[in-house]
Amino acid sequence: MATEALRLSRRAARLQPTAVNAILAEVRQLQARGASVVSLMRGEPDFPTPTHIREAAVRALAEGRTAYPDNRGEPRLREAVAVKLARDNGLQYDPGTEILVTSGATLGVSTALTALLAEGDEVLLPDPIYDAYRSPILLAGGLIRPVRAAIQDGRFVLTRDALEAAVTPSSRVLLLNTPWNPVGTVLDELELRAIAEVVLRRNLLLISDEIYEAIVYDGRHHVSPAALSPELRERTVLVNSLSKTYAMTGWRVGYCAAPAPIIQSMFLVLQQSSRGPATFVQDAAAQALTASQACVGEMRAGYAERRAAVRSALSGLPRAEVMLPEGGFFAMVDVRATGLSSDEVRRRLLHEHGVVVVHGAAYGPGGEGTLRVSFASGGEALAQGLARLREGLARL
Ligand SMILES: Cc1ncc(COP(=O)(O)O)c(C=O)c1O
Repeated sequence: MATEALRLSRRAARLQPTAVNAILAEVRQLQARGASVVSLMRGEPDFPTPTHIREAAVRALAEGRTAYPDNRGEPRLREAVAVKLARDNGLQYDPGTEILVTSGATLGVSTALTALLAEGDEVLLPDPIYDAYRSPILLAGGLIRPVRAAIQDGRFVLTRDALEAAVTPSSRVLLLNTPWNPVGTVLDELELRAIAEVVLRRNLLLISDEIYEAIVYDGRHHVSPAALSPELRERTVLVNSLSKTYAMTGWRVGYCAAPAPIIQSMFLVLQQSSRGPATFVQDAAAQALTASQACVGEMRAGYAERRAAVRSALSGLPRAEVMLPEGGFFAMVDVRATGLSSDEVRRRLLHEHGVVVVHGAAYGPGGEGTLRVSFASGGEALAQGLARLREGLARL
């Protein structure tokens, strides 16, 4: 019997694995051949989820909190999100109509894109940026319009001019991430005001992914764009998650805040793919957001120590310059002086020195000539990884 070729979705065929997943496949092949490999790749905190949060989940399970959750998010969690947004971000949102609980920021971003985009609308996307934004834009029928970032005074910046030059009549959404993965820039209020001016004048919507807000250094402060003006709040979807702030990556819980008509549309979209994180997980998330935030400060101090270790391990190299982040837990290393592509450098580091980093070009052409080095994990793995990285970079 002749077998017909399987016909799969054309839309799905345009999607890409994330850079981390593609590199992981290469690493596993090497490991299967017995190679010793140390990873400085993943954005996965190695801190355990704080005890009081885990205990809240255990209590909720013991109380039988296992039925379907409220599909907008359990009222208790939406209340907790409203309290958190007022406390940390100076923002007022109505938990009844303006907050939606999602399975991580991943679903928050994709739900916002699906709710906001019409077929062929452009999403203005800083370049370089977190590569996993690309596929959900395509899946939602959008087109990617890169906004090239520049390196100025040792940090990546997104200027008003670059944004202005990228906008076309089809541009509909600007997707921002501050603190910004992979480059580590924390956009300050002046920078955000310049960007906001373009958003308002060009009638754009803003999706603001603030997942790294709690991890900032040297006394910096995260500014939530929606807090800049009521006009900007009206056109902003704030996306956040408990993954990084509370070391809760595997719990899959996050939230969005936006004006009621946007949240209503997002709620409709979300119902088609997810009915929300598990009810007992939502109880633990409410506890995380409303209990003492001391654990967040302790983890931030831990990341600051790791960042200092990255600085001392990678300074003074002839053809590689470390760019310490203002926020988040990734450092960029500028290897443009080697004259090699970032992917070539990444492969040499992996195959010849057994250390895994991500090439900057994986995040867009604007990342070419750089490497992303994660210090989300510490301890022996970080020390060993940095020693291998220094050795490898010194030999380029
Ligand atoms: C910028 C950014 N947004 C979203 C995510 C995904 O977050 P979540 O675990 O909440 O789905 C990540 C994870 O690495 C990220 O770096």
